[in-house]
Amino acid sequence: MGRSAIGPGSVPLGSSGPGSTEHRRSGTAPFGTRLAAAGASIDIFPPGVYDQRLDMTLRRGAPEETQMADSTPRLIALVTGASSGIGRGFASRLARDGHDLVLVARRRGALDALAAELTLAHGVGVEVLDADLATDGGVAAVEQRLASGDIELLVNNAGFGTSGEFAELPLDRELRQVDLNVRALVRLSHAALKPMYARRHGAVVNVASTGGFQPVPYMATYAGTKAFVLHFSEALHEEAARHGVTVTCLCPGPVKTGFQDAAQLDVSRMPSLGWTSVDEVVGQALSAARRRRAIAIPGALNRVTAASVGFMPRFLTRRIAGSMFRGASARRDDPDAR
Ligand SMILES: NC(=O)c1ccc[n+]([C@@H]2O[C@H](COP(=O)([O-])OP(=O)(O)OC[C@H]3O[C@@H](n4cnc5c(N)ncnc54)[C@H](OP(=O)(O)O)[C@@H]3O)[C@@H](O)[C@H]2O)c1
Repeated sequence: MGRSAIGPGSVPLGSSGPGSTEHRRSGTAPFGTRLAAAGASIDIFPPGVYDQRLDMTLRRGAPEETQMADSTPRLIALVTGASSGIGRGFASRLARDGHDLVLVARRRGALDALAAELTLAHGVGVEVLDADLATDGGVAAVEQRLASGDIELLVNNAGFGTSGEFAELPLDRELRQVDLNVRALVRLSHAALKPMYARRHGAVVNVASTGGFQPVPYMATYAGTKAFVLHFSEALHEEAARHGVTVTCLCPGPVKTGFQDAAQLDVSRMPSLGWTSVDEVVGQALSAARRRRAIAIPGALNRVTAASVGFMPRFLTRRIAGSMFRGASARRDDPDAR
């Protein structure tokens, strides 16, 4: 893990100006210091300016948008999987809305570059935490960051899929998928909700998929993990509402990101309907969280498809899904392809 470039300014954390977060006020880590933890490390990018208009709608009972007094801590959003695709889209939108950020993923260079770009463009403070969330140490480092209690919004976005016939897929990769898509998401939700309940405000957005609404042969593990995320998040939504906290499950249909490459999907063989853009997905997710919705499904066709699953016999939904994805795996003739 290489050390990244640092954002503008040079302010000790303990003496940063208005807009400081509790984390910065702790004064335990000087600006630019990397906080080392097992399997992860953190750099702090300070905000360049402190006069942002903040979107306060994730705060309980707050108006749509409020001009904050300089002494009020800025809202901090933690986004996992922020180095590309949908997570990068969340980070950009949230920075534009005035949120300070904690960006999490494995690719340090991509996170550092994004942090520098967002600090420059929007004057927000950005922390970078490179962590492998398929490992215990990586998740523990992010749990520790969440435990400091200043995270207003957690976006559990990091995830990947695999495609092909389950019995032919390398088992370790299937298990890493469960560790990342399920185990890490459960642990981080737990770490985030406790302080949010104590404050009686905050939000968690868990990223599932339209693939979570039905079994998907040839993406069996992936769809299974996303079905877990969907049901888990819906259950948490009910529990959290009593504490003034919102849990929203985002279920995107297909979006062009690094996902297709990682899952070894042949995009040309996938159905051409239902594709949405990163911007649309992120916009609808944040809008749903602000409106305290349990589920967000971007794209009208994806909403219709997800709803129709409830009316169809189960054997039919799984056969339709299987016929769509059997031909879409780019690794079906070569079980050792990566
Ligand atoms: N794109 C779609 O069609 C689609 C549809 C439905 C749902 N989704 C879901 O959307 C979420 C984001 O995916 P995406 O489409 O944006 O794909 P992507 O471009 O491949 O992004 C995946 C992100 O997850 C991070 N990640 C992967 N493994 C990680 C690990 N072990 N530890 C920490 N971070 C890890 C990656 O960063 P590093 O590689 O730097 O670690 C990257 O930032 C996923 O949960 C995916 O299942 C995507």
